[in-house]
Amino acid sequence: MTKRVLTGITTTGTPHLGNYVGAIRPAVAASRLAGVESFFFLADYHALIKCDEPRRIERSRLEIAATWLACGLDPERVTFYRQSDIPEVPELTWLLTCVTPKGLMNRAHAYKAATDVNEAAGEDIDAGVTMGLFSYPILMAADILMFNAHEVPVGRDQVQHIEMARDIAQRFNHLFGQGREHFVLPEAVVDEQVATLPGLDGRKMSKSYDNTIPLFEGGAKGLQAALARVVTDSKLPGEPKDPDSAHLVTLYEAFADADERAAFRADLQAGLGWGEAKQRVGERIERTLAPMRERYTDLMAHPARIEETLLEGARKARAIAGPFLAQLREAVGLRRMGAAQAAEPAATEKVRSAAPVFKQYREGDGRFYFKLVGADGRLLLQSEGFDQGRDAGQWVARLKREGAAALAGLPAQRGQGVGEAELAEALALLVQQA
Ligand code: TRP
Repeated sequence: MTKRVLTGITTTGTPHLGNYVGAIRPAVAASRLAGVESFFFLADYHALIKCDEPRRIERSRLEIAATWLACGLDPERVTFYRQSDIPEVPELTWLLTCVTPKGLMNRAHAYKAATDVNEAAGEDIDAGVTMGLFSYPILMAADILMFNAHEVPVGRDQVQHIEMARDIAQRFNHLFGQGREHFVLPEAVVDEQVATLPGLDGRKMSKSYDNTIPLFEGGAKGLQAALARVVTDSKLPGEPKDPDSAHLVTLYEAFADADERAAFRADLQAGLGWGEAKQRVGERIERTLAPMRERYTDLMAHPARIEETLLEGARKARAIAGPFLAQLREAVGLRRMGAAQAAEPAATEKVRSAAPVFKQYREGDGRFYFKLVGADGRLLLQSEGFDQGRDAGQWVARLKREGAAALAGLPAQRGQGVGEAELAEALALLVQQA
C-alpha cells in the first residue's frame, strides 16, 4: 500500500502569507512526490466549533478552497474534499466516541486551556465550553482513521490530537479487532525545516497577534501597503544595516533564491534604505504571488467550479469511506438481522465472555453479599452476609488477587454441583485478567 498522507484545514479566517509559507506551499510540494497518496480536506465541521456566524463560515470555506487550488493543489492527483460532504465521518465519530475514555478528553490541551482560564477567573470550570470543543479530538480522530492515514503533517500544537487518535484507534482495534486491525495507527509529522514567517511586528505571523500580511486579498497594492508597516530599526538610507536582525529579510528570503538573498544582504550592508528595501521585497513576493492571485480571483468569481471540484473529491473519498464504515458497523454489531446471527462468535468474544464475574449486593436483611457467577450464568460461589460492605469488597479483591488461595477462612459455599477444581479454575482466570 502506498503511504497515505492526510491533513485537514480548519476553515476559519482568510489565508495569509504565513499560512502560505508555513503550510500551503510545503503541503502542495509534498503532494507531488511519487509514492504518496494525499488527502486534503476542509475541516468545516471543526470550524463550527469556533464560529457561529454562518456568513463567515461560508466565506472562509470558499476562500480557503480557492486558495489551495490557486496555489497548485491538483485535485486530479490528490483527494480534495469537504469534511461535511462525508457523512461517514460523523458516523465514525460516534463509534469512536463510544470507546473514548472521558478522562482522555479531559486532558486535551484546548479543553484544559479553557478550563484553566475559567478556574483562574473563579468561574465554573466548564463555563462556555461546548461539547463540540470537548470532543474535538474525537472528530479529528475520525477524520484520520476514516482513511487509514499513515502520516498526518501538522503543527506542533496538533501533535497531542494525533496521539489521541492513535489511542482511540488502538482501543477500537482491541475491542472489535477479532484478529483484524481495522485502523492504521497514524503518525504526526512535524516539519522542523519549514520556516515560520515573522509578522509585521516580528513575532510569528498569526491571526491572533493581528500582525498578518494577506496572501491574495487586497492585491499587489494591499501587499505593498502591509509591507510598509513592517517594523524596522531607525537607521537612515546610507547607513549600513544588519541583515540578521531585520525580519524584513526573513520575509524576503522565504521567496528568494540564493543569489537574490546574497544580493539583498549585500545591498542592506551597503546602506540600502528601508523604504527601498520594502519596495524590493514587495516586488519579489509579488512575482511569486501574481499568477496564483490571478487563478484565485478567477476561482472566486466562479464558485460553482470550486463546488464541482469538491463534490468530485467527496465522491472519491466516499468510495473509500463507505465500504470501510460498513466493515466497522459490522464489527461493532450493527448488522443486518438474520444474516449475521448465523455467523460464528468471534474468538475474542468467547474469551471475554468465558470469564466469571463477581456480583456484590445488599439483601433485605441489610447485610452485604457477593457471589461469583460463571459465563454461563451458573452460580459458582455464594458468600454469607457481612455487616460491612467494605468487608465483602475486601474479600472480592483478595479473591481476584490470590485466586483459590484466598478461599481459606472465607464464609462462603460453592454453588450446587460445582467442584473444588472448577471453582479454582474460574478464580485463576480472574487472577490472570487482573
Ligand atoms: N485541528 C486541525 C487544526 O486546527 C485541523 C484538522 C481537523 C486536522 N481534522 C484534522 C488536521 C485531521 C489533520 C488531520 O489545524
